[in-house]
Amino acid sequence: MAGGLRGCREDGTITSDNEAASSQTTQSILSDTLRAALRERRAQAQLGGGQRRIEAQRSRGKLTARERLDKLFDPGTFVEIDAFVTHRAVDLGLDRQRFPGDSVVTGSGLVNGRQVFAYAQDFTVLGGSLSEAASLKICKVMDHAVRTGCPIVGINDSGGARIQEGVDSLHGYAEIFVRNTLASGVVPQITVIAGPAAGGAVYSPAITDFIFMVESIGQMYITGPDVVRAVTGEQISHEELGGAASHASRSGVAHFTAPDEAACFDQVRRLLSYLPSNNTESPPVSENDDPPAGGEESIARLVPADPSQGYDVQDVISLIVDGGDFLPVHHAFAPNIVVGFARMGGAPVGIVANQAAHVAGVLDIDASDKAARFVRFCDAFNVPIVTLVDVPGFMPGSAQEYGGIIRHGAKLIYAYSEATVPKIALILRKAYGGAYIVMSSKELRSDVNLAWPGAEIAVMGPEGAVNVISRREIAAADDPEAKRAELIEEYRGQFANPYVAASRGYLDDVIDPADTRPAIIRALRMMENKVDSSPPRKHGNIPL
Ligand code: HXC
Repeated sequence: MAGGLRGCREDGTITSDNEAASSQTTQSILSDTLRAALRERRAQAQLGGGQRRIEAQRSRGKLTARERLDKLFDPGTFVEIDAFVTHRAVDLGLDRQRFPGDSVVTGSGLVNGRQVFAYAQDFTVLGGSLSEAASLKICKVMDHAVRTGCPIVGINDSGGARIQEGVDSLHGYAEIFVRNTLASGVVPQITVIAGPAAGGAVYSPAITDFIFMVESIGQMYITGPDVVRAVTGEQISHEELGGAASHASRSGVAHFTAPDEAACFDQVRRLLSYLPSNNTESPPVSENDDPPAGGEESIARLVPADPSQGYDVQDVISLIVDGGDFLPVHHAFAPNIVVGFARMGGAPVGIVANQAAHVAGVLDIDASDKAARFVRFCDAFNVPIVTLVDVPGFMPGSAQEYGGIIRHGAKLIYAYSEATVPKIALILRKAYGGAYIVMSSKELRSDVNLAWPGAEIAVMGPEGAVNVISRREIAAADDPEAKRAELIEEYRGQFANPYVAASRGYLDDVIDPADTRPAIIRALRMMENKVDSSPPRKHGNIPL
């Protein structure tokens, strides 16, 4: 190539060096004809599968791939790559169905001013089915994202493996899966489900950190309703089997749902605002650390003194985070625990809180999975964790035991124990038994542990404890119920308070509820430069 000149024929194909050199005399490299040809090619690529299929996409209530990317990125910042890639397959009529760009639009742009890579499957091209070429395009942006340390967002709308390409398509999926796995914990990976995602195709989203589903149009399942009916006889609709509501509340596969695509992309942008671009960075600190509305005194009134009474812990969260602004994750799944992102003193935090408003905030299988995954995400991406504790214990019963509460509960212990980000915990009311240990106790390498003065920390609640240790004494009493009540009060006074734990140093301080927000912000600032590590190993073996 040295010294040679390459050029473009008018049809856009590449000329040889000599041909290019001789054509120099007849046309400039900036000729209007070449520019017009480029514009035409690009315009054709923009049409994906063509106007008819774009109309069909709209009639399904869906945006096109490019419209979706426009909604994701800051206006005018998206730069497409590989717009001219086509597949090379010829079988089953594919040689007559080539579309520039094939079935996915890829590139990068800015979200809230920060670089993010993305791909959007284009349903107008062969149903967004994954060809070898499409998988190469996706892998290219994933590789760029990891090498440049930027988040990657995948927008899914696809009929799955391109049937005509057979094993080449499966190969493409596998290449994406391995990249999802290797990028896990390195850059944030976000999936939007805005159409079908069926069969093995669901596993790329499942490996990513967060899945957003758009109501009515997003569906995920391993096998669709027809196969389900044929194999098991069960009659079920697409929506019931794999729609947003099912995955957000029952399976926990979806972390977020949105009523429409515009709202969905707003949520993605909001989520990204809490996250660092990669695992070597700190989350972006905002200038705005407005105190929440409502006043500090009202916080204590939100939590009833009677430990058996419910309240909404999200009201407490709203009163302690900047601007009262909280982004719950997995909102509809395992509502007995609340997890999500907020800012305190301008810096992003991950919040984990037992939710007394749902089954008294008990820890069960789903709550353990939900919180453990969130804690691990925060730890991977340097987001400090604030834990609000009010927990009666683990859920008893054969359903939980047979479902593996031992294995699942252990995940939460494991997640808190291995996390090296700053960890701040506050016991609002009660922390009993194993659940006390699990919820970011001092022993699990928590940094600052606080409690309100009414907190009860014990092996179990007073009623249960008295029934076990004073059974004979109660039975022998003239008035067993009066004796039980007396012993319960005695136990509560002696053990069920924060001062025993504080006297041992298991709690760093007992605070006035009105001082909650400043106390947590002070603790976060104190631990800002924390450095901690774990023994070297290939990886641990979390009880999956
Ligand atoms: C090639 C496909 C395709 C596919 C759809 N199309 N899926 N082409 N391979 N997998 C094409 C259709 O032929 C059609 O082309 C266009 O896309 C739109 O499809 P429609 O069926 O008209 O759309 P709609 O009625 O909305 O139905 C969407 C759909 C349905 C539910 C996704 O197309 C469907 O059931 N597709 C097959 C799904 C599937 O079984 N995929 C394989 C899953 S197994 P024209 O030219 O008419 O516009 C799998 C394994 C992955 O993916 C394993 C990874 C490890």
